[in-house]
Amino acid sequence: MSAQIKAFFHETTSTFTYVVHDGINPECAIIDPVLDFDYKSGRTSTQSADSVIQWIKDQALCLSWIMETHAHADHISSAKYIQNQIGGKIVIGEHITLVQGVFKKVFNYGDEFIADGHHFDHLIAENESFKIGELEVNVLHTPGHTPACITYDIAGKLFVGDTLFMPDVGTARCDFPGGDAQTLYDSIHHLLSYPDNTELYMCHDYPPQGREICHVCTVAEQKESNIHVGKGASKADFVEMRSTRDATLEMPNLILPSIQINIRAGELPDAENNGVSYLKLPLNQF
Ligand SMILES: [Fe+2]
Repeated sequence: MSAQIKAFFHETTSTFTYVVHDGINPECAIIDPVLDFDYKSGRTSTQSADSVIQWIKDQALCLSWIMETHAHADHISSAKYIQNQIGGKIVIGEHITLVQGVFKKVFNYGDEFIADGHHFDHLIAENESFKIGELEVNVLHTPGHTPACITYDIAGKLFVGDTLFMPDVGTARCDFPGGDAQTLYDSIHHLLSYPDNTELYMCHDYPPQGREICHVCTVAEQKESNIHVGKGASKADFVEMRSTRDATLEMPNLILPSIQINIRAGELPDAENNGVSYLKLPLNQF
């Protein structure tokens, strides 16, 4: 059975959110949903998430799973908001506990923040499988961009998160805490060991001028023309390129708010005694 895939593009953060179902049964999954956020005012909004919810309702689907590929640093997850609206279990890779542990220190959280992944409904291990209707989902651990990145293999189509970008964009940075270029190279080659016609679904696209945004390509296209790992690029060359390039990159605009909310599965930090939820801004830490 073939996966039916609907892609939504969040322009502000260049993120793709997917809804996946089997075309017969009502169950569906959302992958990497986005919460709108205006940094200047500190205001969240749900326009993008609501449009995904509306599409699901219009198709008479019911949401079983809300799947995160990793703790994103460039957009805030709307997983918890969507769950509150239409249900679904929020899942992420089991190594999210490492990421929570690192950022618990960065944000100096106290005992109230337990870095055991309990914020999510289920932590998925490598090779664990589950179903969306009749579609079999297998989980691959694909660390490197972060230590907890996973790829979802849904009936043979791979949702790669930030493990790969479109061939003319290349690969994601590896300089966040716990990131590692050698590890990313190995993860990418794991994905490229799939059959040439395997479809890879991106979490982002940052197209060069003149190209339309695109969310899918094949293993063959990546092997042939990925500017960072294509044409048999060696691990040493990749690590050299990544380290040099990462040293020039600014932090993503939304890394500080995103991480604080995304390691809580998209839930805002507990409100203080005035009913307001606050984010922290660690100075001179990045
Ligand atoms: Fe990312």
